[in-house]
Amino acid sequence: MRRIGILTGGGDAPGLNAVIRAAAKVLFKHGVELIGFIDGYSGLVEKKYRVLDRWAISGLLHRGGTILGTNNRDNPFNYPVKENGKTVFKDMSDTAVKNLNDLNIESLIAIGGDGSLAIARELWEKGAKVIGVPKTIDNDLMGTEQTFGFDTAVTTATEALDKLHTTAESHHRVMVLELMGRYAGWIALYSGLAGGADVILIPEIPWKLENVVKKINQRKEEGKPFSIIVVAEGVKTPEGELVVKQRIDESGDPLRLGGIGQKVAKMVEDATGFETRVTVLGHLQRGGSPSPFDRILATRYGVAAAELALKGEYGVMVSLINGKIQKTSLAGLKTTTRNVPTDSEVIYAARKTGISFGD
Ligand code: F6P
Repeated sequence: MRRIGILTGGGDAPGLNAVIRAAAKVLFKHGVELIGFIDGYSGLVEKKYRVLDRWAISGLLHRGGTILGTNNRDNPFNYPVKENGKTVFKDMSDTAVKNLNDLNIESLIAIGGDGSLAIARELWEKGAKVIGVPKTIDNDLMGTEQTFGFDTAVTTATEALDKLHTTAESHHRVMVLELMGRYAGWIALYSGLAGGADVILIPEIPWKLENVVKKINQRKEEGKPFSIIVVAEGVKTPEGELVVKQRIDESGDPLRLGGIGQKVAKMVEDATGFETRVTVLGHLQRGGSPSPFDRILATRYGVAAAELALKGEYGVMVSLINGKIQKTSLAGLKTTTRNVPTDSEVIYAARKTGISFGD
């Protein structure tokens, strides 16, 4: 019986289960067995897996998270191993490739963001037959127009903005909403526009406090003594400082961003006299049921990945290009952040409708 493996790596994103389900449905039709590795690449290194049968994939379309578990630390090329009571980091990639061979797994579908897909590429270079599927709420991956999870995060953030509006208006306050997105402003831009923010600060556009203050005061003069500011976590202070909440050294991307919202709020309160409050939406953006768009995109990706696996086409990532599902070579995949283009038509529309980017 043919056997194909699947894993989910990095931070979770709504739609992971929908990819697993779609890939499984295609593979089962062809009599292929699907092996799900537990907790991302650590399951591959430690041979922790479960056979996914048709019951395991039932009821998954709308379910957030991942039934396989994941983590955004364990990398087979720099893997934590206990030695004499201490944790040391070792290259366990040979073990990972060997485990695939030992289990008679002909190829591996790796669903992940930039870190997990970089690992997928390195495993491919070592001889593992890998197919990547792009995931992240941040939408910051090169080689695809959109990752699944982003639309759901934008929906959640937009709902939060709708709620902040009513309380901001009642109390005549400035409300600051800090959103995820790492070094890119996709979530902040899209939800800020959808949620009617007055100011959107994103890492791609350097900002000045005086411009934000001007917008808030202008609204006050127009009879709107309240404002909503959306801040992406990757926004730097006007002095160019990146605000870091935590350092996780064993993670491929050790910095955990957070705290810029608080800084912006303090500056705005001091400069305008408006009472200001901060909401950090945090992991709510990663949780819950995927939106219909993400269910559909995840299903399209899952089907495409399974079809590539059946055909024996490896070393590629399924991607969305010009609205169509295509494939991108993992070898040629740039590892840099895909930022919001500052000449984006979405930014243009935001500016034309009076949103300030603080520039
Ligand atoms: O990449 C997804 C993401 O949610 C980022 O937006 C955020 O900066 C980071 O992961 C948070 O990571 P963790 O779950 O380790 O706190």
